Amino acid sequence: MLQLVYISSVAQRADLSAILATSRLNNRRDGITGLLYSDGVRFLQALEGPREAVESAYERIRQDPRHHALVILSRREVDAREFGEWAMAERRVGEEGDQFCARVDQLLANTSANVRATFDSFIKLRRAA
Ligand SMILES: Cc1cc2nc3c(=O)[nH]c(=O)nc-3n(C[C@H](O)[C@H](O)[C@H](O)COP(=O)(O)O)c2cc1C
Repeated sequence: MLQLVYISSVAQRADLSAILATSRLNNRRDGITGLLYSDGVRFLQALEGPREAVESAYERIRQDPRHHALVILSRREVDAREFGEWAMAERRVGEEGDQFCARVDQLLANTSANVRATFDSFIKLRRAA
């Protein structure tokens, strides 16, 4: 199973609840699970599921004008889902964010210093919010 984590910048007027509604519907159909986190400035999303399903969902997501400047933080094969069974769980500022961030920290352990620095600044923004 493929697990993909990316970060992006939120475009103006991106409606999170509309994104989540579509995501949950499609992801349930496609066997994809994961998390979508937003602090209003950036999105951080983890997608897990069958390789082809995740690749084609990411291809759709990548072209979505509601965000831009996507950077893949981690792309790896996993034996089991690490982000739980949610069709797309939502993490907002202040809501069990620490547990989520601890998981993503683990994911990032083998990524480049650049990627970790990007993520660290995301976390700092979240804590400051
Ligand atoms: C930050 C962000 C996260 C998204 N996550 C998902 C997702 O997990 N699954 C999904 O199918 N679409 C997701 N989308 C929406 C897709 O970009 C696209 O609009 C949607 O898949 C099209 O589905 P439809 O053809 O059923 O309307 C996301 C969009 C954004 C901006």
